[in-house]
Amino acid sequence: MASSRFAKICVIGAGTMGSGIAAQVANAGIDVLLLDVAGEDGARNAAADRALHRIAKSNPPLLMRPDNIERITAGNIEDDLERIAGCDWVVEAVVERLDVKRALYRDMVEHLKPDAIVSSNTSTIPIKLLMKAMPKALRQRFCITHFFNPVRYMRLLELVAGSDTDPDVIDAMADFCDRRLGKGVVRCADTPGFLGNRVGVFALQAAIHEATELGVKIEEADALFGRPMGIPKTGAFGLYDLIGLDLMADVVRSLRAILPAGDPFHEVGGENELINFLAAQGFTGNKGKGGFYRRQDGQRLALDLQAARWRPRMKATPELAAIGEAEGLGALAKGDDRLSRFCWRVLARVLTYAASLVPSVTDNPQDIDDAMKLGYNWVRGPFEMIDELGMRPFAARLKREGWPVPAYLEAGGAVYRVRGRKLTVRRGDGAYRAVDLPDGVVRFHMTRRTLKPVAGNDGASLFHLDGGVRLVEFHTKANALDAECMAMVRAAADDPGPGILIHNDAQHFSAGVNLERFLEFIEAKDWKGIDRFLADFQDAVLALATCKAPVVGAPSGLAIGGGYEVLAHCDKVVAHSNTVLGLVECAVGLVPGGGGVKETYRRWRARTGSWEEAAWKTFSHIGANRTGSSPDLAAELAYFAPDRDEQVMNRDRLVEAGLAALAQMGEGYRRPRRPKFKLAGGETFAAMVEHLERGEADGRLLPHDVTVGRALARIVTGGAGAKPTEAGEADLFAAEREAFVALARTAQTKERIEGLMKRGETVRN
Ligand code: NAI
Repeated sequence: MASSRFAKICVIGAGTMGSGIAAQVANAGIDVLLLDVAGEDGARNAAADRALHRIAKSNPPLLMRPDNIERITAGNIEDDLERIAGCDWVVEAVVERLDVKRALYRDMVEHLKPDAIVSSNTSTIPIKLLMKAMPKALRQRFCITHFFNPVRYMRLLELVAGSDTDPDVIDAMADFCDRRLGKGVVRCADTPGFLGNRVGVFALQAAIHEATELGVKIEEADALFGRPMGIPKTGAFGLYDLIGLDLMADVVRSLRAILPAGDPFHEVGGENELINFLAAQGFTGNKGKGGFYRRQDGQRLALDLQAARWRPRMKATPELAAIGEAEGLGALAKGDDRLSRFCWRVLARVLTYAASLVPSVTDNPQDIDDAMKLGYNWVRGPFEMIDELGMRPFAARLKREGWPVPAYLEAGGAVYRVRGRKLTVRRGDGAYRAVDLPDGVVRFHMTRRTLKPVAGNDGASLFHLDGGVRLVEFHTKANALDAECMAMVRAAADDPGPGILIHNDAQHFSAGVNLERFLEFIEAKDWKGIDRFLADFQDAVLALATCKAPVVGAPSGLAIGGGYEVLAHCDKVVAHSNTVLGLVECAVGLVPGGGGVKETYRRWRARTGSWEEAAWKTFSHIGANRTGSSPDLAAELAYFAPDRDEQVMNRDRLVEAGLAALAQMGEGYRRPRRPKFKLAGGETFAAMVEHLERGEADGRLLPHDVTVGRALARIVTGGAGAKPTEAGEADLFAAEREAFVALARTAQTKERIEGLMKRGETVRN
């Protein structure tokens, strides 16, 4: 495989991006040399050392396990530059200044291995300028690798070749960054801002510009240019705060400087005096004194754009809720009120801007869609949005209202079309060609368009893939599991074909069982309803565990609570390496009721050989809501089993790896024997209760934590006075349900669930 070519890597520039890249290389199991400028005598590596410190402390963590830091060696460019002689790839991520970058390349040349690849992480400097004074041999091995921040979590990598870059170098980089660093690689031309920032920054500017023009409040703007449009809920103003107002102002300035005069960017990307003023006063966003949003004396404030003053942050209005709930983009932009007009004008600007880049910047609209989905976490790319609106009606409205209509939109029809069993996309020349993805990459949200579900409901769909494998896809909000989702799990288990893959391409595999449903049960005092729900859930996961074909769960994002319980009943988990795994029910005053306690207990017994120890591990990990923010860390909690499960760096390769695992297990598959248990008994229960009471006495635990802890302890021990006894799977399931229902009946659990669902707050009681 081409990636073995990269045994050692050097990153130069240990700032935000360099440290992120170094951490991800270390996550891939590769040694990295991280260089920055030299410090004073005695602290020559101070800058790179500080980066190591930041990496170690980062949150969300840049490292998949803390000891990956040992793969990174700090150094400085004065004392250690010759050490790049041992490196196969040198990534430059120093300040965005052409003179600094060029001087560095000049100093590096003599030390480089003859076949080492060199790349720059520049966001704005054209590659032809970077390569200008380089010897030809280096120009052939030079490219731009444009990562996004934070590197571990942002999926996009834009790869740009220069006129002399050897195509093999680009292919090797693309393959390595895809398979080993887990990136979705989009190959871009050497044009300003490439694709992600060209469209992404434009979109932010368009939203800010229109909100200002139309007198739309920033909360309103973010509520619309957010979830309803399939854009992360930070919207435009929230994202400015997150990135930093000063940094964003610089990005906008540099794009303005490099984009040609007629580019529509200039209509929305002018100097913004309000933003400059805020940044100058230290209101740079979350990293400073706050920005568009901030807190003062416990009060949440939002900036009034017109008055240039903060005011109390507005709660959701009925008007907003109504428009936000409008089904589909078309409905969002339809009305003639201020908010609908905002939606329409932003969409009109962003979508026509994206369309205007075809074919001059890229011939393939899919590249722009990919860049926005992978680099900005949009659910749909601009061209997928155009398809949703309908190209013809969209273009007709643009014309009617006097907007310029890019040539690409004049043709009508659809951008994407399914031909045969293939998804095709209309390129700049008007021809439909198959979507372009590397071998083995499957983004199920695209593949699903070529398939017809064999069964489905509001919660999930069941597909038969080529070769007959069943794929269960959850598709509720945050993939919260409800009875409908579990009905599809059950349907797959009842007729499993050669195997079942449980996978979806949403941000989160599943954030757990749908708590809103439980709250309804609780409000109706329908305790039987809860018990029935849990029993059905348990039946469905047991059907998975006992079905006659292998089952693989292939999660990414959050796979917690009920989501984890589904995985715990699969034969094998093939997880993306950023997956968060664990059981968090106790936080809302409940215990896992879908086999989570049972499976955790079983796993710890297998690991420790002792039921007593397994009971304590189960009690303490579940009781403290511990999750692992990577499969490696989840393995320490026994939520992931490295000897059986598998992790994959690129989430676009989960389906490939999942199918391979199913094929491998399918030969001579024998369903695992059902486990037998032994409850740890009353003495252990008493010790656990004592532990809880001590926790309450010294203030670590609150009264309801103790109640929940006791309920949990009872499941694995049998409770007060119990003898250590044998138990079957059904007994453990029944004990989970009983504990769950008893807790659901308490006022404190209701308070906790209400706090989370209605106010997004963690209630401590
Ligand atoms: P930064 O300011 O956080 O870090 C730059 C680092 O380079 C500093 O630690 C500085 O001491 C070091 N440095 C300066 N001159 C050097 C030299 N001659 N040799 C070695 N180290 C030197 O900057 P950041 O944000 O990490 O950006 C780095 C590059 O990545 C820039 O080209 C930027 O345009 C690009 N980029 C930045 C993104 C972001 O979100 N911050 C996203 C994508 C690309």
